[in-house]
Amino acid sequence: MHDVVIRNGLVATGSGPIRCDVAVAGGRIVALGENIPDGERVIDATGLLVLPGGVDSHCHIEEQAPDGSRSEESFITASTTAFAGGTTTVVSFIPQWKGHGVWERFVDYRARAATGMLDHAFHQIITDPTEAVMEQEVPRIVAEGVRSLKVFLTYDPLHLTDAQYIRVLETARKLGCLVTVHCENYEAIQWRTQRLLAAGRTAPQYHAWSRPPVVEREATQRAIALAELVDQPIQVFHVSCEEAAAEIAAAKARGLKVWGETCPQYVTLTAADMARPDGALFMCSPPPRGGDEHAKIWEMIRRGTLDVITSDHCAFSTAAKTGQDFSTIPNGIPGLAARLPLIFSEGVSKGRISLEQFCALVATNPAKLMGLYPRKGVIAPGSDADIVLWDRKKQVCLTNTMMQHAVDNTPYEGMEVTGWPVATLRRGEVVMQDGVVLAQPGSGQYLARSAYDLVLPRGVTADGFGA
Ligand code: URP
Ligand code: ZN
Ligand code: ZN
Repeated sequence: MHDVVIRNGLVATGSGPIRCDVAVAGGRIVALGENIPDGERVIDATGLLVLPGGVDSHCHIEEQAPDGSRSEESFITASTTAFAGGTTTVVSFIPQWKGHGVWERFVDYRARAATGMLDHAFHQIITDPTEAVMEQEVPRIVAEGVRSLKVFLTYDPLHLTDAQYIRVLETARKLGCLVTVHCENYEAIQWRTQRLLAAGRTAPQYHAWSRPPVVEREATQRAIALAELVDQPIQVFHVSCEEAAAEIAAAKARGLKVWGETCPQYVTLTAADMARPDGALFMCSPPPRGGDEHAKIWEMIRRGTLDVITSDHCAFSTAAKTGQDFSTIPNGIPGLAARLPLIFSEGVSKGRISLEQFCALVATNPAKLMGLYPRKGVIAPGSDADIVLWDRKKQVCLTNTMMQHAVDNTPYEGMEVTGWPVATLRRGEVVMQDGVVLAQPGSGQYLARSAYDLVLPRGVTADGFGA
């Protein structure tokens, strides 16, 4: 007897949409087919799409800075907002503070995340790649299933020098990890920021002026060039503009293992939003650009230059975001719940991408890039039964209450979307029904990742040295 049978829906399988039943047993999908016998629970999905649960491979949850500030979402509230929006798996960040190691933080974040309901994996942020950290501690956390290292080329006190970045690439290559990179030029932003503040331009809108596209393009080009030098696969995070995406397209054309990520904010928000009285609530880095950038980002998505769409969820309350000059306002916006509705609405409902492309961008590709596929990111026999029942016609005006996150704001307040999740199943359990989250705290699983081929180096280095 199956635990759950979902009937009468249009199922987005890895090989396209098929009208069939989905049978679930022991938390996994065991069959797709017609006239599957009833299970203990039968879910009627008439008129609905049956989609893979969202995989959000870029979420800042309970992330603490050395100054004690932290993104305000806990692993419990992050689970609630994720399930509300149809996401079932996240890859979150473990911080490293300068002068500290990574093992202790790994143990700490394993315990923190275990309180939540989401299935989860981790990126390890590297801000201080000392020999001890890279030779002793990083191998230890890789053995425990962390397979991606995150580096920042900007932000005080997180940014790495080129030499430090190369050191991280070298270690990642040796251990079989992906390196994910925040690409903006630190020195250039410092220079622009000082000049803007000196000129009295302190309001949130000048955040965008402090880091124009050229700053992102330069760092993207450099990140790729150094990854090519070391022969290490990388993913460029949160691409906001065509100029940076063009560097990724050129790298792909040269056969490099370089992948690009973008986020809903770069196809829905603009720099002008930061000029509003509540402009700080739209501040993230890279910043949203001019409105004409949206069409260019969609084109880069359609061409496959940008492989995944994540939320870069990083929630701060309005109080934490106000009363300072732009250079001290914390960067980041919440988006875990809004990601799927926004991308479905702007993408599928408006005819910019197909349903298959949507599933690839928000679930399958992030799972593949993170070494979680085929357990996650696809509706197929053997995969975890992470499923969203989706009403493609439902029109919703987004409000902060619907987001069900920890903070009092969403930059997407008042936006109209067509397409909405009506139920979310995590490993076969209904964890959200009609907006009500039902999962028990502590029911999320840690996803220890093992070695995966996608992030193997190409074996191509200058003069064959180091290959
Ligand atoms: O503004 C952003 N993106 N905040 C989160 C941290 C990061 O840069 O990813
Ligand atoms: Zn970043
Ligand atoms: Zn981020």
